[in-house]
Amino acid sequence: MKRDTELLHIGDTPCDWNGAVNPPVVHASLFCFESLQEYLDTAAGRTQRYVYGRSGNPTTRVLEEKIAFLERTDDALALASGMAAISTALLAYLRSGDHLLVVSCVYGPVRQLCDGMLRQLGVETEYFPCSASADLSAYMRPNTRVIYVESPGSLTFDVQDLRAVARVARAHGAITMIDNTWATPLYQAPIPLGIDLSLHAGTKYIGGHSDLMLGLVAGSAEAMAPVRATARLLGGILAPDDAYLAIRGLRTLPVRMARHQESALKVARWLETRPEVREVLHPGLPSFPGYALAKTQLCGYSGLFGFRLQPRDAAARHRFVDALLDVFSLGYSWGGYESLILPLITHQKDNPALRRALGLDDDTYRISIGLEDPDDLIAALERALATWASA
Ligand SMILES: Cc1ncc(COP(=O)(O)O)c(C=O)c1O
Repeated sequence: MKRDTELLHIGDTPCDWNGAVNPPVVHASLFCFESLQEYLDTAAGRTQRYVYGRSGNPTTRVLEEKIAFLERTDDALALASGMAAISTALLAYLRSGDHLLVVSCVYGPVRQLCDGMLRQLGVETEYFPCSASADLSAYMRPNTRVIYVESPGSLTFDVQDLRAVARVARAHGAITMIDNTWATPLYQAPIPLGIDLSLHAGTKYIGGHSDLMLGLVAGSAEAMAPVRATARLLGGILAPDDAYLAIRGLRTLPVRMARHQESALKVARWLETRPEVREVLHPGLPSFPGYALAKTQLCGYSGLFGFRLQPRDAAARHRFVDALLDVFSLGYSWGGYESLILPLITHQKDNPALRRALGLDDDTYRISIGLEDPDDLIAALERALATWASA
């Protein structure tokens, strides 16, 4: 059976649900025992069953089984947001005195978590450039506990060498984590490449309709055990209604991703032909520096990419963005059905050296290609570029 077909049915047990093809939403904090013996067996770990809403829910479990299947691994855990997944995974593994290696193009709030809370807890974070991912040996210390990557990066789309990162980490006994949000588990399975934990803001493509916050962590049973234990204590679990929405999102993930991929490549290739455009940052374009590596790790491309216009003044930037807003929306959270434009004018403004190192400038844009007809998106961009060039 093809994986798209399997995904539709993995974890679903209509026979247990009176024949309903979709799982019931189980609103439950409390799960009761049928006998004292069952209570004792459960407490002793002889019986596996639901006991309390914070440690597991049948609706959420369907979602977790589907994610573990997509990630080609044993287990997955659903949490209340992408940041809940990331912070829970990091806190599960890091202790005072540990050294944490993080890729420099990482999602901004992860940097804030590392430089703020984790530092207060005694964890030292060191950032490495994406280009160093092919050999991180020089960065490794005896106390390096975790290596954290985000590939492709969601701002710069930089691709890191996952096999090489995993090899160095294994040799030094460190744990590897990837933010796999950009590719979704459909288009990148990092665990078979050697990465220990794959994390997602399911808020993006897995939800897919811009109406859900969701975090996911997936990995082997062994790698997940500390994450599950930490999640039970931190308590950032997903509500079952949101698990249901995420399951519904997964039903159409393959068809949506195929459309995002095709339309984004069409728009990216069109932008590449335009004289107003200096550069297009899309891992699926041969002109992109990470193209060859991406081909060895990804089996598809999502709809989020970047482009740089020729430098012009602020008035031109305003004309360009505002002219797009009849078809595109202006906003941060991507992966939904609707196309977005985001000028990277404010990103890392308080850290000019990092902003320069990441190649961000006032004429760089992030674009999320939604499910509209790509010809309408290209027509809107063409009109906006004409407005940008005017006056
Ligand atoms: C790449 C990436 N990772 C993680 C997150 C955090 O996800 P959430 O907003 O669901 O906490 C985001 C959110 O924008 C993201 O873009």
